Amino acid sequence: MATHRSSMSQLALASSLLLLLLLQSASAGVDVKALCAKTPHPIFCTTTLTADKDTLSAKDVHALAEIAIQTAARLGAAVGNYARRQMDLVKDDNVLWQCLDECAHDVEDAVSHLDDAEGEVDDKHFNEVAAYLKLSEEDTWSCDETCRDTPPSPTKTNVLAKNNDFEKMMNVTNALIKLSCPGFAKPVTDMPDMLPLHKPPMVLPHKP
Ligand SMILES: *[C@@H]1O[C@H](CO)[C@@H](O)[C@H](O)[C@H]1NC(C)=O
Repeated sequence: MATHRSSMSQLALASSLLLLLLLQSASAGVDVKALCAKTPHPIFCTTTLTADKDTLSAKDVHALAEIAIQTAARLGAAVGNYARRQMDLVKDDNVLWQCLDECAHDVEDAVSHLDDAEGEVDDKHFNEVAAYLKLSEEDTWSCDETCRDTPPSPTKTNVLAKNNDFEKMMNVTNALIKLSCPGFAKPVTDMPDMLPLHKPPMVLPHKP
């Protein structure tokens, strides 16, 4: 009897889990793959963003862009942490040390524009990130440049690879922000008030 009851409750549990899964996929609001296809790095964008479980509940491109900002901040922090750890290990190699030091500084500066104290992205912060990415679009901090004359080494390869991921995520984030606010072509100076951040979705007329 007891076994019977427990298998019944297992069945109930299994079916409510199934229902939950079905509901979750039905309410998934945003087509990550389709939006990522509009960024400079579609596959990287899709892989990285779908790895974040918050993406499941992202309802629109604005929400996805917020997740991208947080992901970029995380990837940037990883570059900085790696560079700083290695600096302790390569003290005797002045050229490599310089490369790591400058790279860490530049990346940390970029991350400081993405990170916010509360760990949440409100509209004000979103606009600030948008403005920063727009400004830095043509003039990216570049560990590649900083480390150009540094002789090849596994550490150099690693730090540049991590930095490349960060840079890709920055470019993806920039693209998603632009997709989320079509008015973004406006001059940076009148941005905070002008950005139509939460425009209702455009309703297309139905074809018969
Ligand atoms: C990111 O975008 C900038 C500006 O368009 C470009 O110069 C840079 O090569 C891109 N970086 C990556 C890793 O795609």
